[in-house]
Amino acid sequence: MQIFDANAFSGYRVLITGSSRGIGHNVAMALRQLGADIAVHGTAEPDAKQYGEGAGVVFPLAGDFQKEGTAAKIVSTAAEYLGGLDCLINNAGTMMGRNPITDLTPQMYRQIVDLNATSLVEASIAAIPALSESSQASIINTTSISARTGGSPGSSVYSSAKAFVSTFTRSSARELAPQGIRVNAVSPGTIMTDFHVRYSTPEKLAATTLSIPIGRLGEAADCTSAYLFLAHAGASSYITGQVIEVNGGSLMP
Ligand SMILES: NC(=O)c1ccc[n+]([C@@H]2O[C@H](COP(=O)([O-])OP(=O)(O)OC[C@H]3O[C@@H](n4cnc5c(N)ncnc54)[C@H](OP(=O)(O)O)[C@@H]3O)[C@@H](O)[C@H]2O)c1
Repeated sequence: MQIFDANAFSGYRVLITGSSRGIGHNVAMALRQLGADIAVHGTAEPDAKQYGEGAGVVFPLAGDFQKEGTAAKIVSTAAEYLGGLDCLINNAGTMMGRNPITDLTPQMYRQIVDLNATSLVEASIAAIPALSESSQASIINTTSISARTGGSPGSSVYSSAKAFVSTFTRSSARELAPQGIRVNAVSPGTIMTDFHVRYSTPEKLAATTLSIPIGRLGEAADCTSAYLFLAHAGASSYITGQVIEVNGGSLMP
């Protein structure tokens, strides 16, 4: 169902990190279809053709967010290419394997935190000058249901990093509101992307499905309308510091 007019995002300049596949890719395609200029990103440069048709431009960017300084560089390059920035979607992230606490090394800990938390802070700080110039500015962070539940076994640092993301969303929302920048988050439940192909067995997914009130696992497209709603200044101008849970009812406040 189309909830926005065909060109609802015309004039919006949006960077979506981690948009080479999965949730970020679906959000990028939707924004493009609705007229936005988009900068897309992956560890390898995504092919601009995989984002479908749209009136705006597509700038593909590559960078490994485990490396200090890369996320900030991607943001400044995107803002330069797009001629400014109206929305930063901090979506890049992953679990990096199932790591039982007893097996965790300091290096594994740092890699998971660098990707899922540190790079998001870096990107947000780097985006502030460009976002401050926009009259429709926002940041949308991708957190996780695991930020609140603690996640399933082997995800302790990842889940804790996502809890950091949820809290950083609220802290930065408060601080950046006077500059006209809204900050919100989307919290996916179990969404069938490569993430779960890598980290969850079919048996685990079948058991999870039974626990979801809506009765099925999520798909990337189930998350997209939450990002569009939060990105559109007309739709959500009085909403900041909030986390939208998209989980089929798995977790109810
Ligand atoms: N799927 C779920 O059930 C679920 C639930 C809760 C939260 N999330 C969160 O949702 C976001 C998107 O996940 P997804 O399910 O769409 O997973 P995905 O299909 O694995 O996509 C992950 C994205 O992050 C990028 N990425 C991974 N490692 C990176 C690195 N070192 N540097 C820069 N970018 C990197 C990937 O780029 P490459 O393609 O180049 O690797 C890809 O674009 C993540 O933040 C994830 O933690 C997902």
